[in-house]
Amino acid sequence: MGAAAADQIAVSVQNVGMKFGAVQAVKNASFDLPKGRFLTILGPSGSGKTTLLRMIAGFDRPTSGEIFISARPVSAVPAHRRAIGMVFQKLALFPHMTAGENIAFPLKMRRHDARVIPEKVEKYLDLVRLGGYGDRRIGELSGGQQQRVAIARALVFEPDLLLLDEPLAALDRKLREEMQLEFRRIQKELGVTTINVTHDQREALVVSDEVIVMNDGEIQQNARPVDAYRTPSNAFVANFIGVTNFIDGRVVDLSAPAAAIESNGRRLAGVAADPKLAVGSRCAGAVRAEQVRIAVKGDGLAGLETVVAGRVVDCIFEGERVVYEIRVGELGDALMRVFDHDPETHLQFSPGEEVCLGWNARDMHVFQK
Ligand SMILES: Nc1ncnc2c1ncn2[C@@H]1O[C@H](COP(=O)(O)OP(=O)(O)O)[C@@H](O)[C@H]1O
Ligand SMILES: [Mg+2]
Repeated sequence: MGAAAADQIAVSVQNVGMKFGAVQAVKNASFDLPKGRFLTILGPSGSGKTTLLRMIAGFDRPTSGEIFISARPVSAVPAHRRAIGMVFQKLALFPHMTAGENIAFPLKMRRHDARVIPEKVEKYLDLVRLGGYGDRRIGELSGGQQQRVAIARALVFEPDLLLLDEPLAALDRKLREEMQLEFRRIQKELGVTTINVTHDQREALVVSDEVIVMNDGEIQQNARPVDAYRTPSNAFVANFIGVTNFIDGRVVDLSAPAAAIESNGRRLAGVAADPKLAVGSRCAGAVRAEQVRIAVKGDGLAGLETVVAGRVVDCIFEGERVVYEIRVGELGDALMRVFDHDPETHLQFSPGEEVCLGWNARDMHVFQK
């Protein structure tokens, strides 16, 4: 994230740690989130995402470090005074109330003028595209509509910050993808600073301005989605986002940004993606499945710096693309995955066939092992 003036920072997390007994759930986390941005904290289960979010919400106090919202320490503000909207996987809507009554609830709690409440409820029903549904009981709404009520209820009191903890995790894929775009649209429309937690890499790429990737309590990378994808900062991020082939080897030449590795006696050109790299050190060359081209043996891959021969192990038809698994003998029998999208001929290779794989040197990122 680029540097922003102090008064433009919505949330500042400074050297924050959380220890539960012997478990260090969050380790020395630091970041600044400018106002109006949509941040996603992405990581596998148990990586510390919820713990970090709960500390930002002020539910739990860090065992080290400090968190500031609009330059004030979180812990200094009592829970009911915090201007934070939240949506969790369990929506916690009031089932005996209507959609409108659920959305009105935070306004009543905060003692807003009763005369303006109906107008606000209408406005937020419209925002989440539930105009006309205000009198429906929660049980009369679909899963997606209940999600929308929960979003409206979290936003109706105009919080400074919206926190989302895997609110879409329980939805089926189609609805989840639709709601991801809705979160994005609503966030852009209101400009509310948002922190979303998910283990779904696609969601992180789709909805966010910024992504923080976590593993084992530690922030691995903090970047725009496109940068986290194109220039992952380490092998964990390269593996967690996207489908990546790792080729084991040793660094044989380093003249940054170029790095050459030797794998099973083959020299492969790539780019140095890790400042810790040194000549002689063990490394992994990471190549995305969609950066690898596949062709009939000895044919069609001219112009690519690296070409290797392999044999098709499996061929999975996924509709918009074919996924191949290729055993590459000259790279120590490495199993490589390749995405192929052949709009011209719809050529498909069968298991057992000999093929060639090729990729550009700039598409092999070399990481320390
Ligand atoms: N209240 C708690 N007491 C003890 N350990 C906890 C508590 N909350 C979380 N943890 C542990 O902290 C780690 C991170 O958990 P969590 O933040 O829930 O991860 P995530 O949300 O990424 O799945 C896990 O090892 C988890 O078991
Ligand atoms: Mg969690």
